[in-house]
Amino acid sequence: MTTSHDHAPSTKATWWQSAVIYEIYPRSFQDSDGDGVGDLEGIIQRLSYLEWLGIDAVWITPIYPSPLADFGYDVADYTDIHPLFGDLEAFDHLVEALHAKNIRLILDFVPNHTSEQHPWFLDAKSGPTSAHRDWYIWQNPAPTGGPPNNWVSIAGGGGWELDAESGQYYCHMFLKEQPDLNWRNPAVRRAMYDAMQFWLARGVDGFRLDVFWLLIKDWRFRNDPLNPDYQDGQPDFRRTLPIFSGDRPEIHEIATEMRALVESVDRDCVLIGEIYQPAEKLVTYYGEDGRGLHLPFNFNLMWQHWSPRPILAYIEEYEAALPADGWPSWVLGNHDQKRIASRVGPAQARVAMLVLLTLRGTPTLYYGDELALENVPIPPGQEQDPFGLAHPEQGRDPVRTPMPWSRQERHAGFTTGLPWLPLGNDHPDRCVELQRDDPASMLNLTRNLLALRRSSAALSRGAWSAAKVSGDVLAYVRETESERYLIVANLDDQVKTVGLDEQMGGVVALSTHDGRDGEPMDKVMELRGDEALIIRCQQNAS
Ligand code: GLC
Ligand code: MG
Repeated sequence: MTTSHDHAPSTKATWWQSAVIYEIYPRSFQDSDGDGVGDLEGIIQRLSYLEWLGIDAVWITPIYPSPLADFGYDVADYTDIHPLFGDLEAFDHLVEALHAKNIRLILDFVPNHTSEQHPWFLDAKSGPTSAHRDWYIWQNPAPTGGPPNNWVSIAGGGGWELDAESGQYYCHMFLKEQPDLNWRNPAVRRAMYDAMQFWLARGVDGFRLDVFWLLIKDWRFRNDPLNPDYQDGQPDFRRTLPIFSGDRPEIHEIATEMRALVESVDRDCVLIGEIYQPAEKLVTYYGEDGRGLHLPFNFNLMWQHWSPRPILAYIEEYEAALPADGWPSWVLGNHDQKRIASRVGPAQARVAMLVLLTLRGTPTLYYGDELALENVPIPPGQEQDPFGLAHPEQGRDPVRTPMPWSRQERHAGFTTGLPWLPLGNDHPDRCVELQRDDPASMLNLTRNLLALRRSSAALSRGAWSAAKVSGDVLAYVRETESERYLIVANLDDQVKTVGLDEQMGGVVALSTHDGRDGEPMDKVMELRGDEALIIRCQQNAS
């Protein structure tokens, strides 16, 4: 018996609903020219790997011209490629080569802020009467002096920088080298939509919109309330509740405008929003009547305690909060967060992968998670991330290290030069080459999961419901009218006994552990520590 929800299996399936997205951090995927930094040509060289793995779309983090103060999230030109990564011709080749293998390309788009070196900001900074002054957010000091309000930068410290010449402050929700654009100015909107149009015309299949929820700020510049739960030692951005510096109601207008823009092209393109918000806020980004973003990223499973109750409770909360046509998008790792294998341990990382790839919605896999890579300690003096240089505990270098491809080659085949960040000591032993040959590896588990998911309408597009089973495990059902799967996951390293309803019995279709495929499951079963199973139920869904 299952607890039912209102979400029927999706009928009008677009490519991005049944897709699995793979996030590539281009600096660290494959270097083709020996400069120690990955590039577009490098991605092309590894296309057969992506095809073999079985992902459907690639999201590449920013590759635009940039002074790289925030490794490309500080854009100096929205319609070109940084020479480190290649040029527009290389980009066109990448699009073509991916499409030839039926893999979509999602571009990272950074609308909230530019680089301080962007010509718009250089002009804006030249004086209060400059043509681009109002493209950014300028305010006079507070009446008592100092910054206009208490907004905090997510990179640490205050969210305002004084421009000594004009005596005004400009707003920056990240580094001071990343001034925030003024999205209330129609000229800014037009310029950004033109840039999106530029990439759509070059064949991209959608955008991942960087910190989308921050685009519009309170027009009265009210102080954010203090966070009563703030504890010493937490990052600065936890000091306040960002209800005025972000997530303003007018943001949804922009989502709708962008939606109309991507719908104006003659193919299905997807808009994915990077939105760090709780469930009830997140669902508003689907927009009224589904006229907002297609896929607001849901990061919240990362903050739940990794045990059955909180994880299930959160999934249920989100499924219940979603609008009728809302399609979830789950994430367990990215270039900003600690590696999942370090958070839950390498054995549980297998369980986490099985869960991520069997939940309802479009999952995004972070490169290297299919190898169960862990955070790489960065030796002193080799740190690169400006967030970490200022606040070591916030450093993101450990999750951005080069992909290990082979056992024998120097730097695991990533580069013939000096890698921009070190590889983990154990990474050559976890490389693609070795894991490919090991049927029990994390890599083959991931590949098998992707294949099973692709082969099954229930697993890729079916309805989700919590399963009634007894035992301290995470259990849920994915089903269509003709197919039903039960997923049972032990989020612990101890053996668990699980009691099943009659209708749930079936055979193991896939396990995190060897030798269980095809095993019949009936009424009572045992899950080993760190084991998760996908069971193909014998009884058709009713
Ligand atoms: C997003 C990116 C992060 C970047 C920040 C500022 O959170 O994922 O890497 O530093 O935006 O653009
Ligand atoms: Mg290179």
